[in-house]
Amino acid sequence: ATPNVQAYRASLLHFHADPAFHADAHAWHEDGLLIVEDGRVKAAGDYAKLACTLPDGVTPADYRGCLISPGFIDTHLHFPQTDMIASPSPGLLPWLETYTFPTERRFGETEHARDTAEFFLDELLRCGTTTAVVYCTVHRESVDTFFEASEARNLRMVAGKVLMDRHCPDFLRDVEGGVGDSADLIEKWHKRGRALYAITPRFAPTSTDAQLRATGELAAAYPDTFIQTHVSENQDECKWVGELHPQARSYLDVYERFGLMRPRALFGHCIWLDDEDFARMTATGAAAAVCPTSNLFLGSGLFDFDRADRARTQLSLGTDVGAGTSFSMLQTMNEAYKVARLKGSYLPALRMFYLATLGAARAMDLEGTIGSFAPGAEADFIVLDPASTPLLARRTKQLESLEELVFALALLGDDRAVKATYSAGALVHTRAA
Ligand code: GUN
Ligand code: ZN
Repeated sequence: ATPNVQAYRASLLHFHADPAFHADAHAWHEDGLLIVEDGRVKAAGDYAKLACTLPDGVTPADYRGCLISPGFIDTHLHFPQTDMIASPSPGLLPWLETYTFPTERRFGETEHARDTAEFFLDELLRCGTTTAVVYCTVHRESVDTFFEASEARNLRMVAGKVLMDRHCPDFLRDVEGGVGDSADLIEKWHKRGRALYAITPRFAPTSTDAQLRATGELAAAYPDTFIQTHVSENQDECKWVGELHPQARSYLDVYERFGLMRPRALFGHCIWLDDEDFARMTATGAAAAVCPTSNLFLGSGLFDFDRADRARTQLSLGTDVGAGTSFSMLQTMNEAYKVARLKGSYLPALRMFYLATLGAARAMDLEGTIGSFAPGAEADFIVLDPASTPLLARRTKQLESLEELVFALALLGDDRAVKATYSAGALVHTRAA
């Protein structure tokens, strides 16, 4: 069969290393060309060098004036919470009781779950997010409907059924079977098309020791699945975990004792971890999902980037919708930058773009598959327009450097900056002019 080739002309930005630790970590082609063959990256480089390699009859789409980046990767959010984003509450635990649990109740209803999943995926693509690591609810139906919706669009998505069998309302409690249901869902969905499964104990307080133990055994039985949970988000929560697990050295240690720290384990928040916790994150190959809009919204605390970087813990960014206040990874960078400043750290915009692309892919052990324009990578990419709003246009007319350009996009950009989104080479969103 003749290969199916497309090409895109624009400025190209992607990464091959972490700019916090390596010089020349990024590739930048001011007048660049991205060549896609059968849904995968064939080549990415200078237009002047690559144009002559195009097969006869292939004319590049002209996105000059825009910047093409790998699609953003959001490593922590909850699709059922789309319907309760921006619900006011004085902190995590009352927010869960008042809004979250009642909202999640309806996700055993397939029609309701499907409607929310479709809206959620539309919103991700509008914001330029091509891969997300997603919490469903305790209901199996919530997982089936989510993966059916993402399969229909051929998206690279990670998701799983929430496991929870105590300290929650009866209508959301796993009555036995939670781990067995998870095993069935792994068999059904993990690596089917572009779907990947995440074993999803909500957080330590809502699982019995028996459930955590069985969850750790499941994670060992399926070592290439993901694990996702919350850790050390809020000080009241940390105190509670200390009371529930007095024998553990720390909150994070509860997960380690139950076999839940390993590569492809993603821990949301990680605000109140100490140096030893970060060392354990690094040693086990687990990764942090840093969720600044959520942490500021709930008043949870400020993630310590310098402490994490001293331990060389793998980092990524999450929106944490619906505690997070935006689906946009650009707005998430905006808040991450300010969180870092308040902690005395400094996050360059190029580092933030790394964290939202290759850094996340590495945290997920998916380097080479998503997050960069390495040859053979899946062609999930976005077209960012630095003139998409009057203010961005005015600001980006007078720039000195690449860092200033991506900084302006991160601080001032949102869904409006995303002109187009492509998944596996197919156009899945275009912004109306
Ligand atoms: N901790 C346990 N569950 C949740 C949740 O749904 N959202 C957040 N932000 N934290 C949690
Ligand atoms: Zn969360």
